[in-house]
Amino acid sequence: MTDLELMTVVGTRPQFIKASTVSRVLRKISGISEFMLHTGQHFDESLSGVFFDELEIPPPRCNLGIAGGSHGQMTGRMLEGIERVLLKTRPAAVLVYGDTNSTLAGALAAAKLHIPVVHVEAGLRSFNNKMPEEHNRRITDHISNLLFCPTETAVRNLMAEGISSDVHYVGDVMYDLAIHTAREAATSENSILERFSLNRNEFSVATIHREENITDVTVLGEILAYLKAMAREQHIVIILHPRTRKMLDHYELSCEPLILSPPVSYREMSYLIRSASHVYTDSGGLQKEACFHRTPCTTLRSETEWPETIESGWNRLWKQPAFLPRRSITGFGDGNAADKIVATLCSYLSDG
Ligand code: UD1
Repeated sequence: MTDLELMTVVGTRPQFIKASTVSRVLRKISGISEFMLHTGQHFDESLSGVFFDELEIPPPRCNLGIAGGSHGQMTGRMLEGIERVLLKTRPAAVLVYGDTNSTLAGALAAAKLHIPVVHVEAGLRSFNNKMPEEHNRRITDHISNLLFCPTETAVRNLMAEGISSDVHYVGDVMYDLAIHTAREAATSENSILERFSLNRNEFSVATIHREENITDVTVLGEILAYLKAMAREQHIVIILHPRTRKMLDHYELSCEPLILSPPVSYREMSYLIRSASHVYTDSGGLQKEACFHRTPCTTLRSETEWPETIESGWNRLWKQPAFLPRRSITGFGDGNAADKIVATLCSYLSDG
Protein backbone atom coordinates (compact mmCIF):
# COMPACT_ATOMS: atom_id res chain seq x y z
CA MET A 1 0.00 0.00 0.00
CA THR A 2 1.25 3.50 -0.81
CA ASP A 3 1.78 5.89 2.07
CA LEU A 4 -1.54 6.97 3.54
CA GLU A 5 -2.39 9.11 6.52
CA LEU A 6 -5.54 8.47 8.54
CA MET A 7 -6.93 10.89 11.06
CA THR A 8 -8.44 9.60 14.29
CA VAL A 9 -10.63 12.08 16.16
CA VAL A 10 -10.92 11.45 19.90
CA GLY A 11 -12.00 13.62 22.80
CA THR A 12 -13.38 11.61 25.69
CA ARG A 13 -12.26 8.85 28.01
CA PRO A 14 -14.13 5.98 26.30
CA GLN A 15 -12.73 7.06 22.94
CA PHE A 16 -9.13 6.92 24.13
CA ILE A 17 -9.83 3.38 25.36
CA LYS A 18 -11.48 2.23 22.12
CA ALA A 19 -8.98 3.97 19.82
CA SER A 20 -6.02 2.39 21.65
CA THR A 21 -6.97 -1.06 20.30
CA VAL A 22 -7.15 -0.02 16.62
CA SER A 23 -4.14 2.27 16.96
CA ARG A 24 -2.04 -0.63 18.24
CA VAL A 25 -2.88 -2.68 15.13
CA LEU A 26 -2.44 0.27 12.76
CA ARG A 27 1.11 0.82 14.02
CA LYS A 28 2.03 -2.64 12.71
CA ILE A 29 0.90 -1.84 9.15
CA SER A 30 3.53 -0.33 6.93
CA GLY A 31 2.42 2.43 4.59
CA ILE A 32 -0.21 3.81 7.00
CA SER A 33 0.28 6.51 9.57
CA GLU A 34 -2.22 7.79 12.11
CA PHE A 35 -2.74 11.45 12.94
CA MET A 36 -4.41 11.57 16.36
CA LEU A 37 -6.50 14.67 16.91
CA HIS A 38 -7.78 15.33 20.45
CA THR A 39 -10.70 17.75 20.58
CA GLY A 40 -9.98 18.52 24.24
CA GLN A 41 -13.51 17.56 25.40
CA HIS A 42 -12.03 15.67 28.37
CA PHE A 43 -9.11 17.65 29.68
CA ASP A 44 -8.52 16.46 33.27
CA GLU A 45 -5.37 14.35 33.54
CA SER A 46 -7.50 11.67 35.25
CA LEU A 47 -9.88 11.47 32.28
CA SER A 48 -7.35 11.96 29.50
CA GLY A 49 -3.55 11.88 29.95
CA VAL A 50 -3.56 8.80 32.14
CA PHE A 51 -5.13 6.72 29.34
CA PHE A 52 -2.59 7.83 26.74
CA ASP A 53 0.21 6.70 29.06
CA GLU A 54 -1.32 3.47 30.30
CA LEU A 55 -2.72 2.25 26.97
CA GLU A 56 0.41 3.40 25.11
CA ILE A 57 -1.45 5.61 22.67
CA PRO A 58 0.88 7.98 20.79
CA PRO A 59 0.38 11.52 22.10
CA PRO A 60 -2.10 13.53 20.02
CA ARG A 61 -0.47 15.48 17.18
CA CYS A 62 -3.04 18.21 17.76
CA ASN A 63 -5.23 19.19 20.73
CA LEU A 64 -7.97 21.70 19.99
CA GLY A 65 -8.58 22.39 23.69
CA ILE A 66 -12.34 22.64 23.24
CA ALA A 67 -14.34 21.67 26.34
CA GLY A 68 -17.44 22.80 28.16
CA GLY A 69 -20.24 25.06 26.98
CA SER A 70 -23.60 23.95 25.63
CA HIS A 71 -23.84 21.00 23.24
CA GLY A 72 -24.27 23.30 20.24
CA GLN A 73 -21.37 25.53 21.23
CA MET A 74 -19.03 22.65 21.93
CA THR A 75 -19.92 20.75 18.75
CA GLY A 76 -19.80 23.89 16.60
CA ARG A 77 -16.38 24.93 17.86
CA MET A 78 -15.07 21.40 17.29
CA LEU A 79 -16.47 21.33 13.76
CA GLU A 80 -14.62 24.52 12.91
CA GLY A 81 -11.38 23.37 14.54
CA ILE A 82 -11.40 19.90 12.96
CA GLU A 83 -12.21 21.31 9.51
CA ARG A 84 -9.21 23.63 9.76
CA VAL A 85 -6.88 20.70 10.45
CA LEU A 86 -8.49 18.51 7.76
CA LEU A 87 -8.00 21.20 5.14
CA LYS A 88 -4.29 21.28 5.94
CA THR A 89 -3.72 17.54 6.24
CA ARG A 90 -6.26 15.99 3.80
CA PRO A 91 -6.17 12.48 5.33
CA ALA A 92 -7.31 9.42 3.36
CA ALA A 93 -10.08 8.78 5.92
CA VAL A 94 -11.26 9.97 9.34
CA LEU A 95 -11.92 7.44 12.12
CA VAL A 96 -14.44 8.28 14.82
CA TYR A 97 -15.54 6.24 17.82
CA GLY A 98 -18.79 5.92 19.70
CA ASP A 99 -21.34 8.66 20.21
CA THR A 100 -19.97 11.79 21.82
CA ASN A 101 -19.98 15.38 20.60
CA SER A 102 -16.39 14.77 19.43
CA THR A 103 -17.63 11.83 17.30
CA LEU A 104 -20.29 13.91 15.60
CA ALA A 105 -18.00 16.88 14.99
CA GLY A 106 -15.26 14.67 13.48
CA ALA A 107 -17.70 12.83 11.22
CA LEU A 108 -19.49 15.94 10.01
CA ALA A 109 -16.33 17.93 9.34
CA ALA A 110 -14.93 15.07 7.24
CA ALA A 111 -18.18 14.30 5.39
CA LYS A 112 -18.54 17.92 4.26
CA LEU A 113 -15.03 17.78 2.79
CA HIS A 114 -15.81 14.43 1.07
CA ILE A 115 -13.25 12.62 3.19
CA PRO A 116 -14.42 9.04 3.95
CA VAL A 117 -15.80 8.65 7.48
CA VAL A 118 -15.15 5.41 9.35
CA HIS A 119 -17.38 4.83 12.38
CA VAL A 120 -16.25 2.33 14.97
CA GLU A 121 -19.13 1.23 17.25
CA ALA A 122 -21.77 1.96 14.61
CA GLY A 123 -25.43 1.02 14.90
CA LEU A 124 -26.00 1.34 18.62
CA ARG A 125 -29.39 2.70 19.63
CA SER A 126 -31.08 3.34 22.95
CA PHE A 127 -34.24 4.64 21.20
CA ASN A 128 -34.23 7.41 23.80
CA ASN A 129 -34.00 10.77 22.06
CA LYS A 130 -33.50 12.58 25.35
CA MET A 131 -29.90 11.32 25.36
CA PRO A 132 -27.53 13.64 23.48
CA GLU A 133 -25.59 10.53 22.44
CA GLU A 134 -28.59 9.14 20.51
CA HIS A 135 -28.53 12.09 18.08
CA ASN A 136 -24.76 11.85 17.77
CA ARG A 137 -24.99 8.14 16.87
CA ARG A 138 -27.78 8.42 14.36
CA ILE A 139 -26.28 11.34 12.47
CA THR A 140 -22.79 9.86 12.48
CA ASP A 141 -24.05 6.54 11.11
CA HIS A 142 -25.97 8.25 8.33
CA ILE A 143 -22.92 10.18 7.09
CA SER A 144 -20.36 7.39 7.50
CA ASN A 145 -18.83 5.50 4.56
CA LEU A 146 -17.57 2.48 6.46
CA LEU A 147 -19.44 1.23 9.53
CA PHE A 148 -18.04 -1.23 12.05
CA CYS A 149 -20.65 -2.79 14.32
CA PRO A 150 -19.80 -4.37 17.69
CA THR A 151 -22.88 -6.64 17.74
CA GLU A 152 -25.40 -8.14 15.33
CA THR A 153 -28.12 -6.08 17.02
CA ALA A 154 -26.24 -2.99 15.85
CA VAL A 155 -26.22 -4.32 12.25
CA ARG A 156 -30.00 -4.84 12.45
CA ASN A 157 -30.52 -1.31 13.81
CA LEU A 158 -28.68 0.10 10.79
CA MET A 159 -30.67 -2.07 8.36
CA ALA A 160 -33.89 -0.79 9.92
CA GLU A 161 -32.73 2.74 9.06
CA GLY A 162 -31.83 1.75 5.49
CA ILE A 163 -28.05 1.62 6.03
CA SER A 164 -26.67 -1.60 4.59
CA SER A 165 -23.66 -0.96 2.39
CA ASP A 166 -20.17 -1.12 3.87
CA VAL A 167 -21.59 -2.30 7.20
CA HIS A 168 -19.39 -4.90 8.92
CA TYR A 169 -20.01 -6.92 12.06
CA VAL A 170 -16.54 -7.18 13.59
CA GLY A 171 -17.15 -7.52 17.35
CA ASP A 172 -16.44 -5.08 20.11
CA VAL A 173 -13.02 -3.44 20.50
CA MET A 174 -13.78 -3.08 24.22
CA TYR A 175 -14.10 -6.85 24.44
CA ASP A 176 -10.66 -7.16 22.79
CA LEU A 177 -9.16 -4.88 25.41
CA ALA A 178 -11.02 -6.41 28.37
CA ILE A 179 -9.75 -9.91 27.68
CA HIS A 180 -6.25 -8.67 26.89
CA THR A 181 -6.09 -6.69 30.17
CA ALA A 182 -7.50 -9.54 32.28
CA ARG A 183 -4.80 -11.84 30.86
CA GLU A 184 -2.05 -9.43 31.89
CA ALA A 185 -3.42 -9.41 35.49
CA ALA A 186 -0.67 -7.24 36.97
CA THR A 187 -0.21 -7.79 40.69
CA SER A 188 0.37 -4.07 41.31
CA GLU A 189 -3.33 -3.54 40.61
CA ASN A 190 -4.06 -4.89 44.06
CA SER A 191 -3.04 -1.51 45.43
CA ILE A 192 -6.37 -0.06 44.34
CA LEU A 193 -8.12 -2.35 46.85
CA GLU A 194 -5.58 -1.45 49.54
CA ARG A 195 -6.22 2.25 48.88
CA PHE A 196 -9.84 1.79 49.99
CA SER A 197 -9.16 -1.01 52.52
CA LEU A 198 -11.39 -3.36 50.55
CA ASN A 199 -11.23 -7.14 50.15
CA ARG A 200 -12.04 -9.02 46.96
CA ASN A 201 -15.75 -9.86 46.60
CA GLU A 202 -16.67 -7.83 49.68
CA PHE A 203 -17.60 -4.60 47.93
CA SER A 204 -19.46 -3.17 44.97
CA VAL A 205 -18.35 -0.50 42.56
CA ALA A 206 -20.57 2.29 41.18
CA THR A 207 -20.40 5.09 38.61
CA ILE A 208 -22.94 7.67 37.45
CA HIS A 209 -22.32 10.38 34.91
CA ARG A 210 -25.07 10.46 32.26
CA GLU A 211 -26.59 13.84 31.71
CA GLU A 212 -30.16 12.57 32.23
CA ASN A 213 -29.17 11.01 35.59
CA ILE A 214 -27.27 13.84 37.18
CA THR A 215 -28.68 17.18 36.03
CA ASP A 216 -32.15 16.65 37.55
CA VAL A 217 -31.85 16.67 41.35
CA THR A 218 -34.86 14.33 41.75
CA VAL A 219 -33.31 11.65 39.51
CA LEU A 220 -29.86 12.06 41.05
CA GLY A 221 -31.37 11.94 44.56
CA GLU A 222 -33.29 8.75 43.71
CA ILE A 223 -30.16 7.00 42.41
CA LEU A 224 -28.14 8.11 45.44
CA ALA A 225 -30.84 6.92 47.85
CA TYR A 226 -30.80 3.51 46.13
CA LEU A 227 -27.00 3.22 46.31
CA LYS A 228 -26.95 4.29 49.95
CA ALA A 229 -29.56 1.64 50.79
CA MET A 230 -27.41 -0.99 49.01
CA ALA A 231 -24.35 0.27 50.89
CA ARG A 232 -25.96 -0.81 54.16
CA GLU A 233 -25.42 -4.42 53.03
CA GLN A 234 -21.95 -4.02 51.54
CA HIS A 235 -19.32 -1.31 50.96
CA ILE A 236 -19.84 0.61 47.73
CA VAL A 237 -17.03 2.60 46.19
CA ILE A 238 -18.31 5.24 43.79
CA ILE A 239 -15.88 6.49 41.16
CA LEU A 240 -16.91 10.06 40.49
CA HIS A 241 -16.77 11.71 37.09
CA PRO A 242 -15.84 15.43 37.54
CA ARG A 243 -19.27 16.48 36.35
CA THR A 244 -21.03 14.21 38.87
CA ARG A 245 -18.91 15.67 41.64
CA LYS A 246 -19.85 19.17 40.49
CA MET A 247 -23.56 18.32 40.57
CA LEU A 248 -23.34 16.68 44.02
CA ASP A 249 -21.65 19.81 45.35
CA HIS A 250 -24.12 22.06 43.58
CA TYR A 251 -27.17 20.29 45.06
CA GLU A 252 -25.36 19.78 48.41
CA LEU A 253 -26.15 16.04 48.39
CA SER A 254 -24.45 13.82 50.95
CA CYS A 255 -23.02 10.49 49.78
CA GLU A 256 -22.53 8.96 53.23
CA PRO A 257 -21.85 5.93 53.61
CA LEU A 258 -20.56 5.54 50.02
CA ILE A 259 -16.78 5.53 49.60
CA LEU A 260 -15.89 8.33 47.16
CA SER A 261 -13.07 8.10 44.64
CA PRO A 262 -11.78 10.36 41.88
CA PRO A 263 -11.58 8.76 38.39
CA VAL A 264 -9.21 5.78 38.13
CA SER A 265 -7.16 4.41 35.25
CA TYR A 266 -8.39 1.72 32.81
CA ARG A 267 -6.39 -1.05 34.49
CA GLU A 268 -7.49 0.00 37.97
CA MET A 269 -11.13 0.07 36.88
CA SER A 270 -10.80 -3.30 35.22
CA TYR A 271 -9.31 -4.73 38.41
CA LEU A 272 -12.06 -3.16 40.54
CA ILE A 273 -14.75 -4.67 38.32
CA ARG A 274 -13.11 -8.10 38.41
CA SER A 275 -12.78 -7.94 42.21
CA ALA A 276 -16.21 -6.54 43.00
CA SER A 277 -19.26 -8.61 43.79
CA HIS A 278 -21.55 -6.17 41.96
CA VAL A 279 -21.38 -3.16 39.61
CA TYR A 280 -23.91 -0.30 39.59
CA THR A 281 -23.51 2.00 36.61
CA ASP A 282 -25.11 4.16 33.93
CA SER A 283 -22.05 3.80 31.68
CA GLY A 284 -22.37 1.88 28.43
CA GLY A 285 -18.82 0.58 28.67
CA LEU A 286 -18.92 -0.53 32.28
CA GLN A 287 -22.08 -2.62 31.97
CA LYS A 288 -20.37 -4.62 29.23
CA GLU A 289 -17.08 -4.92 31.08
CA ALA A 290 -18.94 -6.23 34.15
CA CYS A 291 -20.46 -8.96 31.96
CA PHE A 292 -17.15 -9.73 30.23
CA HIS A 293 -15.61 -10.32 33.67
CA ARG A 294 -18.68 -12.21 35.02
CA THR A 295 -19.53 -9.62 37.67
CA PRO A 296 -23.28 -9.02 38.02
CA CYS A 297 -24.31 -5.51 37.03
CA THR A 298 -27.28 -3.25 37.70
CA THR A 299 -27.61 -0.61 34.98
CA LEU A 300 -28.97 2.62 36.43
CA ARG A 301 -31.04 3.45 33.36
CA SER A 302 -34.35 2.44 31.87
CA GLU A 303 -32.89 1.11 28.62
CA THR A 304 -29.61 -0.16 27.23
CA GLU A 305 -27.84 -0.17 23.88
CA TRP A 306 -26.47 -3.59 24.81
CA PRO A 307 -29.45 -6.01 25.06
CA GLU A 308 -27.01 -8.95 24.81
CA THR A 309 -25.83 -8.15 28.35
CA ILE A 310 -29.38 -8.45 29.72
CA GLU A 311 -30.00 -11.67 27.76
CA SER A 312 -26.81 -13.17 29.24
CA GLY A 313 -28.28 -12.82 32.74
CA TRP A 314 -25.29 -10.79 34.02
CA ASN A 315 -26.89 -7.36 33.62
CA ARG A 316 -30.30 -6.03 34.59
CA LEU A 317 -31.92 -2.67 34.25
CA TRP A 318 -32.40 -0.91 37.55
CA LYS A 319 -36.17 -1.27 37.64
CA GLN A 320 -36.22 -4.76 36.15
CA PRO A 321 -37.32 -7.07 38.98
CA ALA A 322 -34.70 -9.81 38.49
CA PHE A 323 -31.82 -11.04 36.36
CA LEU A 324 -32.73 -13.38 33.49
CA PRO A 325 -31.32 -16.93 33.80
CA ARG A 326 -27.55 -16.94 33.19
CA ARG A 327 -26.23 -17.87 29.77
CA SER A 328 -22.81 -17.64 28.24
CA ILE A 329 -21.92 -14.19 26.94
CA THR A 330 -21.78 -14.19 23.18
CA GLY A 331 -22.21 -11.64 20.44
CA PHE A 332 -19.24 -9.33 21.11
CA GLY A 333 -16.91 -11.06 18.66
CA ASP A 334 -13.84 -13.21 19.24
CA GLY A 335 -11.46 -10.64 20.74
CA ASN A 336 -10.00 -9.66 17.35
CA ALA A 337 -12.31 -6.78 16.41
CA ALA A 338 -9.45 -4.29 16.00
CA ASP A 339 -7.58 -6.59 13.57
CA LYS A 340 -10.74 -7.04 11.50
CA ILE A 341 -11.35 -3.30 11.42
CA VAL A 342 -7.84 -2.56 10.19
CA ALA A 343 -7.92 -5.35 7.56
CA THR A 344 -11.28 -4.16 6.19
CA LEU A 345 -10.19 -0.53 6.27
CA CYS A 346 -6.98 -1.31 4.35
CA SER A 347 -8.88 -3.12 1.60
CA TYR A 348 -11.48 -0.31 1.47
CA LEU A 349 -8.70 2.27 1.02
CA SER A 350 -6.80 0.25 -1.59
CA ASP A 351 -10.03 -0.32 -3.59
CA GLY A 352 -10.89 3.37 -3.40
C1 UD1 B 1 -19.19 12.68 27.51
C2 UD1 B 1 -20.08 12.12 26.41
C3 UD1 B 1 -20.67 10.78 26.86
C4 UD1 B 1 -19.59 9.84 27.38
C5 UD1 B 1 -18.79 10.54 28.47
C6 UD1 B 1 -17.69 9.68 29.03
C7 UD1 B 1 -21.20 13.75 24.98
C8 UD1 B 1 -22.50 14.37 24.65
N1 UD1 B 1 -21.19 12.99 26.09
O1 UD1 B 1 -19.99 13.05 28.62
O2 UD1 B 1 -21.29 10.17 25.75
O3 UD1 B 1 -20.19 8.67 27.91
O4 UD1 B 1 -18.23 11.73 27.90
O5 UD1 B 1 -17.15 10.27 30.19
O6 UD1 B 1 -20.23 13.95 24.28
N2 UD1 B 1 -15.38 18.05 32.75
C9 UD1 B 1 -14.34 18.21 33.62
N3 UD1 B 1 -13.15 17.60 33.34
C10 UD1 B 1 -12.97 16.88 32.21
C11 UD1 B 1 -14.05 16.72 31.33
C12 UD1 B 1 -15.24 17.30 31.61
O7 UD1 B 1 -14.46 18.90 34.65
O8 UD1 B 1 -11.87 16.37 31.97
C13 UD1 B 1 -16.66 18.74 32.97
C14 UD1 B 1 -16.96 19.68 31.81
O9 UD1 B 1 -16.36 20.90 31.96
C15 UD1 B 1 -18.46 19.74 31.85
C16 UD1 B 1 -18.85 18.37 32.36
O10 UD1 B 1 -17.69 17.82 33.01
O11 UD1 B 1 -18.89 20.71 32.78
C17 UD1 B 1 -19.39 17.47 31.30
O12 UD1 B 1 -18.39 17.17 30.36
P1 UD1 B 1 -18.76 16.75 28.87
O13 UD1 B 1 -17.54 16.84 28.07
O14 UD1 B 1 -19.98 17.45 28.44
O15 UD1 B 1 -19.17 15.29 28.88
P2 UD1 B 1 -19.35 14.01 29.75
O16 UD1 B 1 -20.37 14.15 30.79
O17 UD1 B 1 -18.03 13.48 30.17
